Amino acid sequence: MKHLVDLKDIGEQGIQELLHLTDRFAEVCQRPIPKVPALRGRTVAMVFFEDSTRTRMSFDLAAKRLSADVLDFPTHASSLSKGETLRDTVETIGALGVDALVIRHGVGGLPSEIAHEVGEYISVINAGDGLNAHPTQGLLDAYTLCQHFNGSAGPEASLAGVHIGIIGDVRHSRVARSDVDVYTKLGATVTVVAPQSLQPSDVDKWPVEVAENLDEVLPKFDVVGLLRIQTERMDDSSALPVTDYVERYGITEARATTLKDDVVITHPGPVNRGIEIADSVLDGRPNVLVSKQVMNGVALRMAVLFRLLGSGIEIE
Ligand code: NCD
Repeated sequence: MKHLVDLKDIGEQGIQELLHLTDRFAEVCQRPIPKVPALRGRTVAMVFFEDSTRTRMSFDLAAKRLSADVLDFPTHASSLSKGETLRDTVETIGALGVDALVIRHGVGGLPSEIAHEVGEYISVINAGDGLNAHPTQGLLDAYTLCQHFNGSAGPEASLAGVHIGIIGDVRHSRVARSDVDVYTKLGATVTVVAPQSLQPSDVDKWPVEVAENLDEVLPKFDVVGLLRIQTERMDDSSALPVTDYVERYGITEARATTLKDDVVITHPGPVNRGIEIADSVLDGRPNVLVSKQVMNGVALRMAVLFRLLGSGIEIE
């Protein structure tokens, strides 16, 4: 495994290996000094063309906890603004001796193109590409659910028997695409719930059930996976007035009374409080795993970096 650009490239077993490896790094993260020398001497470049808080900081911390050096590529103040093509810029980054490129970009498919062009000597990790994929978010969501339901992610991690509802702006969500991919590979049943205008046009080809009426399906879910309303990725035709959205799809206090008692709630963040979910539900219910997801994101990204860059090295 040289790159991580899309979970479509990894089978069930590859996913289970990564999740199992994450267990070991979750242990490292619990140590008084949560740092190992595994990637000493390796360099990871962060190339983020879109805003990011948790994904960027999480990758940064993961690389540092593995003792790798981290280079921040200033996307707003680089030679790109002088007309250099992205391909030449990436080649330059490779020529500097960087081992891995963590890239987020608004254009779907770009990390895969870069991996084809310069991937011989540099590992490419997709930190979100347009509407296409967000593989590490999918993996950390799956890890968080395995940990919740099974205590850890053993070598045969599974979500069989778990019914997961993915609710909200599925059309514009790369997280939904990667979540569906990993959840179904691990055996979960997935229902996506969205108004027609926020359903992907090819949703009939997804391995999921589709629902428009949230209230009909909500009481069945073991997991409620919320998505952010991504206005920055919408055109006018798919926009739904916020009040309508809250009325039909928000996890309001009233709607929360119809949830299973032990239901798990996830959200990749950033949360729009009062829209996707009411404050009182987010802060007051047990089994809201939003902070756990962030915490596990570091261990998961350590596992990914270690798997791609650390072959043959012991974790310690
Ligand atoms: C997501 C993203 O950027 O795709 N955020 C994240 O990485 N935690 C989800 C989002 O922006 O809604």
